[in-house]
Amino acid sequence: METIYDVLSAEHDQVADLLQQATCNGSRESLLKVKAKTDLHMAGEEKLFYPLLQQKDELCDLVKHAFKEHKESKTVISELERMDESDHNWTSKVEKRNEKKIDHQVQEEENKVFPAAQKVLSQDKAQEIAQQCL
Ligand SMILES: [Fe+2]
Ligand SMILES: [Fe+2]
Repeated sequence: METIYDVLSAEHDQVADLLQQATCNGSRESLLKVKAKTDLHMAGEEKLFYPLLQQKDELCDLVKHAFKEHKESKTVISELERMDESDHNWTSKVEKRNEKKIDHQVQEEENKVFPAAQKVLSQDKAQEIAQQCL
């Protein structure tokens, strides 16, 4: 049965694909797709996943950091949203700032947050919250 880690990792892959597209075609439409997907993904994590981790003292700092990262990526995306896509900086900004930021965040989650969560959340719980995501 699918766990929350499977669901979130699959979403990370979807975001990476969309981001790749946005970097290639440099269109606002693609950026908006990235935004829609990341907003939904982060909202799910903030509502279903992080609160459970936050209850554990040892994970408190990690979760605080994750929330901070989310805030930063929302800022980056809204900055891009306000820019004109014909701006010559548009593509390089999408590429550098957005990709770097989101990529870094995904790495951190998959390599630090998930293993730490697996230590404190039972397999049952990890499956139960996966169901709530659907
Ligand atoms: Fe996240
Ligand atoms: Fe994530």
